[in-house]
Amino acid sequence: MTNIAIVDYGSQYTHLIECRLRELGYNSDVVMPDECFDKLLNYKALILSGGPRSVFEKDAPQLSQALSTLIFEKEIPTLAICYGMQLLCQHLANKSGYDSVKKSDTGKAGGKSSSEYGKTVLKISCQEKILEGVPSGEVVWMSHGDYVYALPPNSHSLASTDNLRNAAVALINHSVYCLQFHPEVSQTKNGSKIIQNFIAICQISPDWDSRQHLQTIKEDTLKRVQNKHIIAFISGGNDSSVLAEFLKSVIPAERLHFFYVQGLDPATSIQNIRLLDPGITIVNASRKFFTRLKKVYNPEEKRVIIGKIFVEIWEEETRKLARKLNIKERNFILAQGTIYPDVIESGGSKHADIIKSHHNRIREIQELIKVGAVIEPFSDLFKGDVREIGRILNLDRRLISQHPQPGPRDAIRVICSPARALPDDNLLDIAFSDEKDIQKFCGALGYSAWLIPIKSKGIQGDQSTYKYTVGLVGKYRREELLTLANAIPNQFNDTINRVVYVSSPADTTSLAFLGVRKCDFNPETKKIADHANSILVKSLHLANIYNSVSQAFAVVAPVSFDSNGYGVVIRAIETQDFMTASCYWLPERLLFSISKEIMKSIPEIQIVLYDLTSKPPGTIEWE
Ligand code: XMP
Repeated sequence: MTNIAIVDYGSQYTHLIECRLRELGYNSDVVMPDECFDKLLNYKALILSGGPRSVFEKDAPQLSQALSTLIFEKEIPTLAICYGMQLLCQHLANKSGYDSVKKSDTGKAGGKSSSEYGKTVLKISCQEKILEGVPSGEVVWMSHGDYVYALPPNSHSLASTDNLRNAAVALINHSVYCLQFHPEVSQTKNGSKIIQNFIAICQISPDWDSRQHLQTIKEDTLKRVQNKHIIAFISGGNDSSVLAEFLKSVIPAERLHFFYVQGLDPATSIQNIRLLDPGITIVNASRKFFTRLKKVYNPEEKRVIIGKIFVEIWEEETRKLARKLNIKERNFILAQGTIYPDVIESGGSKHADIIKSHHNRIREIQELIKVGAVIEPFSDLFKGDVREIGRILNLDRRLISQHPQPGPRDAIRVICSPARALPDDNLLDIAFSDEKDIQKFCGALGYSAWLIPIKSKGIQGDQSTYKYTVGLVGKYRREELLTLANAIPNQFNDTINRVVYVSSPADTTSLAFLGVRKCDFNPETKKIADHANSILVKSLHLANIYNSVSQAFAVVAPVSFDSNGYGVVIRAIETQDFMTASCYWLPERLLFSISKEIMKSIPEIQIVLYDLTSKPPGTIEWE
């Protein structure tokens, strides 16, 4: 019997709560907001998740009658996070005839915005057990637009931030705690401590063990596969490598068929593949990828095309194998190394927003999943859990510790543009009209700021965004640059979700002449992406910091001073769970030497940008 229920209002982080609880040794169930009273009655603790909606939206999920009774009458201890907090406070205030929640206001023209994305400092005004051991002035992670401005009846505020009076609220005479920030994300410094404090309040005993969980996954897989054959596409990245090792430990070799699809990643990737299975079948799909991605500019479209190509290859190879082994096609199952973030970001939960379509979760694959033709043993696990399984299975350490790679590889690391001109986009016009205000804002800290007319994916308040970038020119100073990277997308959240620093050329004073060129994913742009990436990765190894960085890669951008060349973005992040991340601050000498080498050895590159953005408001990848 599980003691903790997490009520899922659609947050990207709902399962991170589950993940943090497991790390602390506790099992939990994720349940829907309309779960019935009888089932919920068995739990000893409730956690209400965040979510992408506003309590003012007509069809937004509500606090159900069952939950209301359990929280306020049965007195089950409750922790309400972000949307969960707003829902609970609004519910109580509405009963007394007033609104507790206010809609987010944007902070245009230097005015203050109440929305917060990324790091914020928490000022504790009242030390209660839930915040025990959390010093005032520590960093917490926010991702919200709406906020609680009027306390509900019989409650008091425990903490605030510069922008927000009620960042943590407790109900008087109830074990009910509301947090506007996310204790479940690793960037909230003492987040796990807060969750542990809540569990201590609930008086629950530990009940989770990862070896036991691996055993459960093995049993489930055997039950699903029975005597069928498995086809798995192995890319040599973390998840598919662990998947290969896992499958080898449960399915007899004669029923396991591994394939490597070539065409999206650098030629050197084949080394990893050979470590896993020297006899793997290689399918060269380079032509297919380049042909079908020609003149495709929209990131979501690219992802779907790539997913479709993988499905086609699966169908072709299944047909060939079925003929060769003389068995029916329906006796083959596709095994995928899908992990939980892929599922949730592809819109895998009823109330969650689609952030991006992961190639392994496109509609065609979802159809195959429905008819039982796919197994995904890790689909409720996070990167850290999967790596732990790899360790338990004694997988080669290099495969476990390497940086993650997205399935679509280079194809989503070349930003495409349909024309040698600025995009014809209303949002760009608005962004340009913000530029003066942004410049004023950055000038105060000694930086010049320019709008870079390319969009990238982002995530703000659990919603997917596709907005423009601000480039900063000036001294390489950590505090000032990260402060601006945090503040600009908060203050100008209608148009901006990313901030970069110009690390080369050294003599840049203005980006006013930065032009956009026509660009798609083709052999030339792929080669540039691979080359820039190899310089970055080699330099991190030489500087002995590859293992301290969670993920680093180069992105090719269609911008240059004469509109004939390209730009490169250096992305380096630190994260535990890949659902949130902060910029990994590269040492000055290293950043400038990498940038110089990229400019020198790749003649097409005219500018190098270093991405300072956290997730949220950005995502780790640009597309
Ligand atoms: P984002 O960009 O969503 O990335 O912050 C989170 C992590 O997921 C990886 N990623 C992908 N992995 N298929 C994958 O297998 C995909 O389509 C995909 N997109 C992003 C990304 O590299 C990061 O580690």
